[in-house]
This record gives sequence, C-alpha cells and structure tokens, in this order.
Amino acid sequence: MPLIPTGELVAQARANGRGIGAFNAICLEHAEAIAMGAEAAGQSAIIQISENAVKFHRRQLGPLAMACAQIARGSSAALALHLDHVEDIALLHQAADFGFGSVMYDGSTLAYADNVAATRDAVEWGHSHGLWVESELGEVGGKDGAHAPGIRTDPTEAASFVSATGVDGLAVAVGSSHAMLDRSAALDHPLIAEIAAAVGIPLVLHGSSGVPDEELRQAVAAGMVKINVGTALNIAFTGAVRGYLDGQEKVVDPRKYIAQGREAMADVVAHFIDVLN
Ligand code: G3H
Ligand code: ZN
Repeated sequence: MPLIPTGELVAQARANGRGIGAFNAICLEHAEAIAMGAEAAGQSAIIQISENAVKFHRRQLGPLAMACAQIARGSSAALALHLDHVEDIALLHQAADFGFGSVMYDGSTLAYADNVAATRDAVEWGHSHGLWVESELGEVGGKDGAHAPGIRTDPTEAASFVSATGVDGLAVAVGSSHAMLDRSAALDHPLIAEIAAAVGIPLVLHGSSGVPDEELRQAVAAGMVKINVGTALNIAFTGAVRGYLDGQEKVVDPRKYIAQGREAMADVVAHFIDVLN
C-alpha cells in the first residue's frame, strides 16, 4: 500500500472515536514489527522515527527513513511515517525528502514565547510542504531518566498556543512520562477532556508505554487521538532476545535472536492497536 498521509490516519481515528498507535522505530526490524502488528490487528498505524534514533544512526536520517518508507509501502496495512521529537531545525527540514507525512517540532523545554515562535515557524514550513505538524506544550518528562509525571498542561494556555501557532496536533502533559518500564501511570482524564475541548485539535499522548490498557481506553474516550509508544517495544524485544540467548552459547547468527525480538514487538504493537480500537 502507498504511504498514507499522517493527517488522514489521525482524522479517520478521531472521526471514529478511536486512537491511532504511533510506534517508535529504532532499527529496521522495529518498522517490520510495526507493519506485522498492524497487519495482524487489521488496522492502520504510524511508524515514527525520533531525533534520538537519528543520532544513534550516526546522525543520518536517510537510511532508516527510506527503510521505514519501503516497509510501509510493502505492507497491506495503512501506514504513515512521522518524524518525532525534533529540536534540530535542519533535521526537521529533511522530512520533506523521505516520505514523511508529519513532523513533531519539540519546543517543550523552551520558554512559552520561544516555543510559540519556533512552533509557528515549524508549522509554516511543514504546511508549505504538505505535512501535518505536531508540537508539545507542558513537558512530558522521563527522557532524561527522571520521571516527572506531576507536570500538567494548562488548558487556557494550550488554546492560546494552538491559535498562535496553527499547529495540527498537540502533545500535552497529563500524567504520563517517557521510558517507563512498568505500566503504572495514572492519567488526569478530566484534564484531557478539558484540553481537548479548549484546543479543538487532536491531542497526542507521549510516554504511552507506561500507561495501563484501561487508562489508554479512557484517554481516547476523553480526546487523545495519537498514542505514542516506544519503550514497550524495546522491553519486548530485549526480553525475547535475552530469553532466547540464555544458555545458547553456540548461537551467533543475529537473525536467530532478532527474529524472536521482532515477533515479540509485533505482538505488542497488535495489542496496543486492539486497545486503542
Ligand atoms: O514520542 C515517543 C513516545 O512518547 C514514546 O514514549 O517510550 O515511553 O512509550 P515511551
Ligand atoms: Zn514522546
């Protein structure tokens, strides 16, 4: 299937009261697992590459982005490609070259006025290239290893931010935190509904790996649409590889254990997609 524009998948999910899973691809096999999981669930999904993943790949976006795009085109599932958590504007501008349907400009650590100005520029550039643009207001913590689930996005400020920037989707801080290894986050559901009503655009939940299934269902019902999941795939991958290699000193072909990890990630993707539907 051709790559589907992210904005189309988000709009469809929102119109049907569903969430759309956006899964982080670090390596080629993550993207294959996302396609496999979406195919198994019979639903659409977003493959996303973060600025941190690009840094890992020797600061080259092209190799992983082109692989993800080709994997999406070779899948029977409707898949979109998103560039996530971008702070480097030069990287943001590369999105237009590799089939991305959307970008997230992340100015969440900036002062409010600076975040507005930088996001407005990113939106202007993104829209001139036909891209759906996401940004963040109220920092969702955890990327530095320190969970900060206490930070909250203010609904009034969010409404002003959206009208000042023209952004298409807004990531908000409502109790989740990046890189959690257990699923124990408790979300502020009334706040989600309040922000959703105030901004009138789809909301994005970051750090969804740490959010229990029932909390995710309630978050979607309250107005969350794009649900970002990364760490849960890596927990599954690493656990499967560890389990397979334990006591297998003679195994040296990486295909043997990576295949186990890829299957485990595909199961996680299918599970999250089922929950969001
Ligand atoms: O932008 C990516 C997500 O927020 C992933 O967060 O790794 O905690 O699931 P997570
Ligand atoms: Zn995130």
